[in-house]
Amino acid sequence: MTIRWYPGHMSKALEQISELVRKIDLIIEVLDARLPYSSSNHLLEQVRRNKPCIKVLNKNDLADPAVTRAWVQHFQKSAGVRALPLVAKNIPETKSLVKLCKQLVPQRGNPGYPIRTMVVGIPNVGKSTLINTLAGRSIAKVGDRPAVTMRPQQIPLNNGILIFDTPGLLWPAMDDQGGAYRLATSGAIGANALDYTNVGIFAAAYMMRRYPELLKERYKLAELPATPHEVVEAVGRCLGCIMSGGVVDVHRAAETFLRELRAGKAGRISFEEPGTPDDVEAELLRFAGIEVREQHQQAPTVPE
Ligand code: G4P
Repeated sequence: MTIRWYPGHMSKALEQISELVRKIDLIIEVLDARLPYSSSNHLLEQVRRNKPCIKVLNKNDLADPAVTRAWVQHFQKSAGVRALPLVAKNIPETKSLVKLCKQLVPQRGNPGYPIRTMVVGIPNVGKSTLINTLAGRSIAKVGDRPAVTMRPQQIPLNNGILIFDTPGLLWPAMDDQGGAYRLATSGAIGANALDYTNVGIFAAAYMMRRYPELLKERYKLAELPATPHEVVEAVGRCLGCIMSGGVVDVHRAAETFLRELRAGKAGRISFEEPGTPDDVEAELLRFAGIEVREQHQQAPTVPE
């Protein structure tokens, strides 16, 4: 199965972001720490206008700490970019974000001269959770309002930060099937666009290659089965996903397996690392039985 989830409104969102970037001092880009590459939109760089950017590696409580450290080093090689792993609901951790904003824009952040920022990211990475924690109250989700009627809402925080709360929403660049499957595994792609069994098998293949011990421990497997499909079946047996006749309900097993991985039940897992060679990625997809066809997706126009 090829996951197709085209970013229909990407041009519009980029146009709005590009426009807003003129008025702000700093961009806060929220990424999922478990898959910071696939949860980003690579066109953001082109509309950034060299404004400083903090890449928040959110959901750090779920990610593999060693891999997150590698991502921080990777991102900080780019000029004007800082990376900060955090958990959006954690108040002390979000305070370190405020501190970093003040370091990057030292000339502002005083009463009357707030640091003007915008929070961007793909759906489900934790933008609203972060904004709510920073604001200390619940703010209506801007993504819930139709794009045409949106006017920039400004959210002044008590800590010298002003958030321009629009448009904020980006779409992931679905330029590779591996990335699409990782997003699906993490829960970023809506349930309608995917087939749980295929995604569960991909997740099993990845876990077999990268975290076999966590897999064995969580699902009480003395030895790993030979194929990802058999792993999903073994997980199903362990979790009681059995149909009449004692046959494993593979669909339910895959769905439950994904839910467990997303919630960190098997441990802290990262779904991608910086600098993974193409042949390693291709081998994983083959192992998961994913047919990789070339996709011809028209790149959205980047606004001037
Ligand atoms: P968005 O605005 O970018 O679309 O994301 P949102 O804040 O709505 O967060 C999406 C989901 O991610 C929410 O879970 C939220 O609780 C969870 N989340 C956000 N930040 C973190 C984090 O640092 N760690 C973990 N583990 N989870 C985080 P949900 O199940 O969709 O909603 P809810 O049941 O929590 O309300």
